[in-house]
Amino acid sequence: MAKAGPVYVCAECGAVHAKWSGRCDACGAWNSIHEEAPAAPGPGGVRLPRSHRAAILSDLSSTEAPPPRTLSGIGELDRVLGGGLVPGSAILVGGDPGIGKSTLLLQAAAAFAGSGLKCVYVSGEEASAQVRMRAGRLGLGQANVQLAAETDLTGILTMLDAERPDLVIIDSIQTMWSDAVGSAPGSVSQVRSAAHELAGFAKRRGSAVVLVGHVTKEGQIAGPRVVEHMVDTVLYFEGERGHQFRILRSVKNRFGPADEIGVFEMTGGGLAEVQNPSALFLSGREERAPGSSVFAGIEGTRPVLVEIQALVAPSPHSQARRAVVGWDGARLAMILAVMEARVGLPFTGLDVYLNVAGGLRISEPAADLAVAAALLSAREDAALPADMVVFGEISLSGALRPVSQTENRLKEAQKLGFSQAALPERSKAAEGTGVTLRSVPDLAAFAGSMFGAG
Ligand code: TYD
Ligand code: MG
Repeated sequence: MAKAGPVYVCAECGAVHAKWSGRCDACGAWNSIHEEAPAAPGPGGVRLPRSHRAAILSDLSSTEAPPPRTLSGIGELDRVLGGGLVPGSAILVGGDPGIGKSTLLLQAAAAFAGSGLKCVYVSGEEASAQVRMRAGRLGLGQANVQLAAETDLTGILTMLDAERPDLVIIDSIQTMWSDAVGSAPGSVSQVRSAAHELAGFAKRRGSAVVLVGHVTKEGQIAGPRVVEHMVDTVLYFEGERGHQFRILRSVKNRFGPADEIGVFEMTGGGLAEVQNPSALFLSGREERAPGSSVFAGIEGTRPVLVEIQALVAPSPHSQARRAVVGWDGARLAMILAVMEARVGLPFTGLDVYLNVAGGLRISEPAADLAVAAALLSAREDAALPADMVVFGEISLSGALRPVSQTENRLKEAQKLGFSQAALPERSKAAEGTGVTLRSVPDLAAFAGSMFGAG
């Protein structure tokens, strides 16, 4: 075997390169590649099975009962998990530092303890006294959760094998280290090896294991993406720093739908559930303001109404600005191009700012028409009807394409007091939702009927 030299690993995506370079060609991240000691072969690293038993087969049609799930009672969390916590599952919760992950998971541990689970919270970042103080602030001082302040993976696994808890929180995976791995704590090999061992423990003992992962900005510490493939469920905790709303989003879930969201509000006493996110995202909306539209979206299995705001102003610069918060910048460029080419409304020389109110990030193509509506309204300086929701996908020809779950979108709109909807022709919508449908074939027809423009 050739002697193993140093390897160069991307901390963002975990790709291994033969030599250093400034940009990772696997994921495109800059300055994320650094040298790591080669993985130590032999004992310690990955545990080899002691004996080779033959693999066991069972029928696909076998009626083995699915594992029972446990509900925490925090409805927003239970839904994002796909209907409660699955025993033996490994869950990654990623998010920016300071976004509220430790708070969320301490609250979750206390809630699951209240549902009868034996819960252990391992903090590699805070002393037990600090975690206790936090629990006190959250009003959870009496919760039946066992604490450990530890970063040594072997010690943690020994404790877990003896205690056999139902739920283990590891905060955070980047602080865990094992001396069987030759590189520094936080490196890709340490983080991967710790995640591998802990996910293995989950499967072996039927405990649910939650790994907290900081989204890292600089390339020295491995990010949560390097362990996404090792876990059953990947959740991200998101939100804009200045906003009090936080969104827990499932991006992968072997036990439920992906793209489900749970909405929380930050308070002095911890995270509070938001059961009616539409009402929250629309609160504070100025109804007759130009540059605002209401998008009837679907997040996971739930309809959510959200305000889209646009500002269009003559640009003082030779290169006009395009700034987007909560949506995709490339998609905005596409809509501006369609507006120019198919509707005859250029945005050259105009700065364009687009914002999804409330800190939600939208990725549905169904938002195209709502974005176009906000842009047109801003450009024409004319408000849309205050009681109208908008949705539909825009194709490059300017035609509007129907989107999924039209009926659910309309029902949510009606529930929140909206009485009309602009939507693509041929949308599958039953009459009787109480919402007047203004179906339009293409973007030019929409601009014409709303603003007499184009
Ligand atoms: P923390 O949970 O420590 O974030 P993370 O683990 O993701 O780094 O939260 C950061 C700070 O915000 C902490 O000082 C507590 C505070 N906080 C609240 O006051 N209320 C809340 O509802 C949340 C979520 C956090
Ligand atoms: Mg924390």
